[in-house]
Amino acid sequence: MQNVREKSILVTGGAGFIGSNLIENLIKENEITVIDDLSNSAGDRFVKEFENRDNFKLITNDINRNGAFDSIGKVDLVVHFAANPEVNKGYENPDISFNDINGTKNVLKFLKEKEIKNMIFASSSVVYGEPEIMPVKENQGPYKPISAYGAYKLASEGMITAYSHYYGIKAGIFRFANVVGKNQTHGVILDFIKKLKANPKELTILGDGTQSKSYIHVSDCVSAIMYLNERIDKMEIINLGNRGTTSVIKIADVVKEKMKLGEVNYKLSNSKDGRGWKGDVKKIELDVSKAENLGWKNRYNSDEAIEKAVDELLKQI
Ligand SMILES: NC(=O)c1ccc[n+]([C@@H]2O[C@H](COP(=O)([O-])OP(=O)(O)OC[C@H]3O[C@@H](n4cnc5c(N)ncnc54)[C@H](O)[C@@H]3O)[C@@H](O)[C@H]2O)c1
Repeated sequence: MQNVREKSILVTGGAGFIGSNLIENLIKENEITVIDDLSNSAGDRFVKEFENRDNFKLITNDINRNGAFDSIGKVDLVVHFAANPEVNKGYENPDISFNDINGTKNVLKFLKEKEIKNMIFASSSVVYGEPEIMPVKENQGPYKPISAYGAYKLASEGMITAYSHYYGIKAGIFRFANVVGKNQTHGVILDFIKKLKANPKELTILGDGTQSKSYIHVSDCVSAIMYLNERIDKMEIINLGNRGTTSVIKIADVVKEKMKLGEVNYKLSNSKDGRGWKGDVKKIELDVSKAENLGWKNRYNSDEAIEKAVDELLKQI
């Protein structure tokens, strides 16, 4: 991990997919506290291996609860990951995103009270909605998210920028593309693997399969946020993804091949506009030159990230 040493770091949602990968890298040289309500299907499975270390502490609590942060002292850095990451749940239940906005409020209150001057926020490419010009740059508005999840990310970004200005907080707001890899508990790859294990002859694909997005491997994602956080000195919004995109059909082909299944019938659950669900962005490509100009380069491109993640998840499941 890049230059992050001897810091005390609070990771909200640290028991989840991206959080556990981040902690794996940071635990050697830093003191880590996690607050997580373990609502993720993995429970505390991904952080079990850290639990007997002196420099790791897991607080099982919902960040929306009153007093959730009371037992936590001042830290050097807060990484805010706790949220429901599943964009497709918003149409049925937009309240999830209102709760997550409240979660960001509680995190910001904690930063203010403890006079903490550095935070990282996991935002998302979905804040852009469906941009007309692609690849889309960080400053390309207007932002018109088409999901409650995207709206929650945008609302959180707004409050973080305000707190940053008011209280002198250096905030790295990272708009992730789709993150894939070890410890994933949701997303298209996992969906395909599970379905094909249940029925190796047929795969139901949500949408028309042409949805194309850029993917980033979780190892690149967690290294990038730490590398970039050390190289910014104020609030910055930075896209993290890859040039180019990978289509859903291509992902299905990779999974099918790696599972050595031969002929599989793809059944497209075609919606009227080809989306996988209400609020699904059909195509998004991020401009990643800001991260690159700060010296960051991913190890894996979008297609390679998918390949590596499929291998990792097939081993894990
Ligand atoms: N995975 C992606 O492709 C992706 C892309 C863009 C942004 N993000 C964001 O990155 C962050 C981490 O996502 P992830 O993919 O690791 O998801 P995840 O579900 O694996 O991790 C989120 C963790 O937060 C916890 N959590 C949720 N609500 C909580 C609450 N109210 N209080 C305490 N803990 C709570 C869950 O138990 C879980 O362990 C999320 O904010 C997500 O929106 C993820």
